[in-house]
Amino acid sequence: MYDSGKIIIGLIIFAGIFTSPFWYDLSGGKEALKAPVLVLPTKADQQVCVNTLEYMRADHMVLLNDWRYEVVRLGDRTYQSPDHKEFNMSLTGTCLNCHANSAQFCDQCHSYIGETPYCWECHTEINKPENMQ
Ligand code: HEC
Ligand code: HEC
Ligand code: HEC
Repeated sequence: MYDSGKIIIGLIIFAGIFTSPFWYDLSGGKEALKAPVLVLPTKADQQVCVNTLEYMRADHMVLLNDWRYEVVRLGDRTYQSPDHKEFNMSLTGTCLNCHANSAQFCDQCHSYIGETPYCWECHTEINKPENMQ
């Protein structure tokens, strides 16, 4: 009644078409599959972030929003980290002072998930302290 040979060939063709986006990515779109490679600060005095690793991973965008609010609306520029260190609340002046190459850090994750924060339209790397002179 059934032609099992044809059904199997049909299934194979179906599986090929169904999974083709993955095949395509494996061959052509290597960039899309590359996991983020994060270059971390190497200087001895830059080994601890402004908050815990878990917090920064999950909530750095919340922290940046808080910083912006406190600087722009409240005029407060000093942040106390959980281990009681003080930081100037500045995206380019503080975050990028340690994470000096945003392309090898911020952008690594953001391009992986297809996110493009619009912050750099105004907060350019040119504002970094070492690029100001
Ligand atoms: C004093 C240096 C320093 C400053 C300032 C700093 N960071 Fe970090 N940051 C680090 C280090 C070192 C790590 C890695 C910590 C670890 O592995 O325990 C890190 C980790 C992170 C991570 C997690 C990376 C991962 O592996 O998942 C994010 C996200 C991050 N930082 C964002 C920021 C942002 C945003 C700012 C500014 C609000 C900032 N950092 C300010 C040194 C710094
Ligand atoms: C470990 C990966 C990782 C690193 C490193 C990282 N981010 Fe993110 N970032 C994310 C993820 C994931 C999101 C998206 C969260 C979401 O969509 O809810 C995000 C979102 C953001 C947002 C909010 C974007 C928006 O349009 O609302 C900002 C702002 C941001 N990141 C800034 C930074 C900055 C600045 C750095 C570097 C100093 C950085 N991030 C490093 C993973 C990372
Ligand atoms: C339209 C231009 C513009 C855009 C886009 C923008 N900002 Fe800002 N931001 C400013 C200005 C202007 C200030 C005030 C600078 C000051 O008083 O030092 C500021 C201040 C801040 C501050 C505190 C001061 C500092 O040096 O960093 C933080 C943090 C901040 N913004 C984060 C962000 C983040 C995160 C994004 C993206 C999600 C973003 N901004 C997008 C213009 C912009």
